[in-house]
Amino acid sequence: MEAPAKLNFHLSIGPRRSDGYHDLISIFQMIDLSDTVQITRTPGSRISVSVVMENFESIEENTMEKAARLFADVTGIADALSIRCKKRIPMQAGLGGGSSDAAAVLLLLSKLYGYPLQRSELIAIGAKVGSDVPFFLGDSTAACVEGRGEVLTALEARTDLYGVLIMPEGVGVSTREAFGELDRARLQNKVPLRTIGKGQLVSMYAQPVAEWRYFNDFRAVMGPLSPLYDTLDTIVSELPDAFGTVSGSGAAYCIVSAEHRISELFRTKVEKIGANVTIFDIKSLHRADSGVTVSL
Ligand code: C5P
Repeated sequence: MEAPAKLNFHLSIGPRRSDGYHDLISIFQMIDLSDTVQITRTPGSRISVSVVMENFESIEENTMEKAARLFADVTGIADALSIRCKKRIPMQAGLGGGSSDAAAVLLLLSKLYGYPLQRSELIAIGAKVGSDVPFFLGDSTAACVEGRGEVLTALEARTDLYGVLIMPEGVGVSTREAFGELDRARLQNKVPLRTIGKGQLVSMYAQPVAEWRYFNDFRAVMGPLSPLYDTLDTIVSELPDAFGTVSGSGAAYCIVSAEHRISELFRTKVEKIGANVTIFDIKSLHRADSGVTVSL
């Protein structure tokens, strides 16, 4: 199945909690850039999980393996599971690729084993794998996300958002380090605690993107990537009806617009700055075209 990436149009982050996580409020949007996850099972008497990344080196802390093992713990399944993943979503990009892959594993296993768990149990497993996993198990391709990522309010997903994703070459951002950096900056009073009310965040989503006042608290602690993002912000301000932001803790920057020629307009401008980036054309997903089925 396809495991779609997400964008964060808005991300405000509260203080560090006693469990080390941060409460946040964010607007999440699934997009049509995706990994492909497949699972085959060989009946056995003991659980085993193998993961093959088709076009990337295997990563040490694999979210898919973790998800499969937790699912097996809860359900008591004891087969040999072989997971294959074709990666297209850049890693350490703030696009939720690892979380979406893990959610795809949980959805595939649910189906494979005849839906043995309640949706809430599946979401609880997802939250153990990563804070962004519940969103990918949810009902909507767009949501207002709170708590540490597990409190979801579905939004009527827009069908008219075209976009461009800019991924700086050879640069990834660790989410954990980004949160640490933000905490340090806050201790030195360099980044204020600010937010927009939930009602306003939600209603803004339906408005023209040029009117969006979304922001991302990580933007203040992006270090060496800041000059590139400043340049991209300037380009966005010159485009008609466009909104641009860093997604999650970076390093990807996204631009969205209801103007489907956005990619063309943007590429010409970005070529002029000669930045070392990969550019992807993207589109917002809505339920009908997401290929994501949550029928538990
Ligand atoms: O949940 P996940 O494993 O994706 O998070 C990675 C790291 O990001 C956590 O270990 C934590 O340091 C930080 N984090 C946080 N608050 C959140 C989500 C993540 O502090 N809401």
